Amino acid sequence: MTEKRRLAVVTGGLGGIGTAICQRLAKDGCKVVATYHPAEEDKLADWSAARTAEGLDIGLVAGDVSSSEDSARMMAEVAEKFGAVDILVNCAGITRDTTMKRMQADQWDAVIDTNLSSVFYVTKPIWEGMLERGFGRVINISSVNGQRGQFGQVNYSAAKAGMHGFTMALAQEGAAKGVTVNTISPGYVKTAMTDAIREDVKEAIISGIPMRRMGLPEEIASAIAFLAADDQAYVTGANIPVNGGLFMH
Ligand code: CAA
Repeated sequence: MTEKRRLAVVTGGLGGIGTAICQRLAKDGCKVVATYHPAEEDKLADWSAARTAEGLDIGLVAGDVSSSEDSARMMAEVAEKFGAVDILVNCAGITRDTTMKRMQADQWDAVIDTNLSSVFYVTKPIWEGMLERGFGRVINISSVNGQRGQFGQVNYSAAKAGMHGFTMALAQEGAAKGVTVNTISPGYVKTAMTDAIREDVKEAIISGIPMRRMGLPEEIASAIAFLAADDQAYVTGANIPVNGGLFMH
């Protein structure tokens, strides 16, 4: 529990991992705002009702993180409605898996814009405020596939590897000012994203995971809670794997 109630923003907040992060940070005493893509409006009522039933009061703001203009507008709305952001979790992400032979430019662009450029667009509006206040936690959700590559994911692996480059550079800009910037690289986690993998491919993937199972969203959220805490101020520029042993380095 922090002394001051921290404001945490989680992009992709309605997704499998995003929801678990919202739940965990709210339970740890933060005021949490989940951002979501305008196209997810139909999920909103059920999602909110489920959080209310859990006793959690989570703010919601819509925005398209793949657009620089809409990200700026979204973060201005967050500031106006909820105040200064202390913790930002860049969790929004998509896949457009296919082999290089078949991949088209629109599949490349969609993944790079949503998974990588978004991290710049969403962090940019709140960065100076974090430096000025002398406190901030930026946590980027990358992937094991950004660390080791994955057949059928040149777009996703490139974007996820790029996220950690962003982390290491920005961590250096925040280090002397009380702002930490870190990456979490989940392995295969049980969510709608991994449910979409073909069953035979999924079985082969699980058999290659030393723990022989997918991760749980709560296991990712627990690593976020560690990095977001007020009393964890000395880890920065790190890439923490949470992958059941799938990739070790
Ligand atoms: N390494 C080497 N060769 C492989 C391979 C691999 N990992 N996977 C498939 N191949 C080979 C196959 O054996 C096959 O060879 P032949 O033509 O000689 O038989 C050939 O490549 C074609 O394979 P597919 O039948 O799978 O090809 P497809 O076009 O039907 O499907 C694909 C392509 C959609 C990319 C599919 O392979 C796939 O879904 N792969 C998994 C991708 C993946 O892991 N995505 C992760 C999504 S979840 C996520 O991203 C979250 C996260 O952060 C972890």
